[in-house]
Amino acid sequence: SSSGSSSINFKKKPVIIIVVGMAGSGKTTLLHRLVCHTQSSNIRGYVLNLDPAVMTLPFGTNIDIRDTVRYKDVMKEFKLGPNGGILTSLNLFSTKFDEVISVIERRADQLDYVLVDTPGQIEIFTWSASGAIITEAFASTFPTVIAYVVDTPRSANPVTFMSNMLYACSILYKTRLPLLIVFNKVDVARHEFALEWMEDFEAFQAAVEIDTSYTASLTRSLSLVLDEFYKNIRSVGVSAVSGAGVQEFFEAVETSAQEFMEGYKVDL
Ligand code: GTP
Repeated sequence: SSSGSSSINFKKKPVIIIVVGMAGSGKTTLLHRLVCHTQSSNIRGYVLNLDPAVMTLPFGTNIDIRDTVRYKDVMKEFKLGPNGGILTSLNLFSTKFDEVISVIERRADQLDYVLVDTPGQIEIFTWSASGAIITEAFASTFPTVIAYVVDTPRSANPVTFMSNMLYACSILYKTRLPLLIVFNKVDVARHEFALEWMEDFEAFQAAVEIDTSYTASLTRSLSLVLDEFYKNIRSVGVSAVSGAGVQEFFEAVETSAQEFMEGYKVDL
């Protein structure tokens, strides 16, 4: 690395794309779209599934937590509910994550991207020790970016939008990795409103103030915080269903990976 800010000489490829998103944001559909795109455009992709509880996936995986950890057995053995079962399965898998890194390292020359699917309940990955261990294992070996999938039509309300962005901000703060906000479902609702709110916080304030029941001073402070957050991130609008924006998604991932290699720092 020429930046000197990191002592690790990162190989350029593959770029790790960790896909996170609230339940229903369209993570699985988007991953399917991304996998199809890589296959039809000679991009060499690799797919890693970290969701132990998923029944069926519409795409094939190269490495799958379900091959190593039996989620139902973990629930029985440790007398856990569904979320505890997923978390414990992820903990068990993270103890052997160096093997996953080795497998990817051995194939590094033949791979452009590793697409990483995470559990449907976002906080199981973003707020767990094993999620942090896995993220750090990736980021200490390969350029790594986080793709945060947003349900655009369901974020059209300014307060919902703000909550969603605050969550994204917490992910940036925890991971300190380049963050790409993926506004999904633009076939249903275009994401221009989001771009406007991100570029012009007065436009956002005006939108919030229509909802007069809201604590205006708190909202004002939070939107100033978010204004700083927006300077640290990228965003792209996509439709997992129609395929719109997928090209732009990969371009934004490349820019983010470049930033990572140049010694990306979060300025918060
Ligand atoms: P899990 O985390 O695995 O549960 O995935 P998810 O819940 O985040 O999303 P999933 O892919 O299951 O999508 C949720 C719903 O949104 C489904 O009904 C999808 O068909 C729909 N959906 C996903 N992407 C799009 C999109 O780009 N446009 C439209 N119109 N619908 C979408």
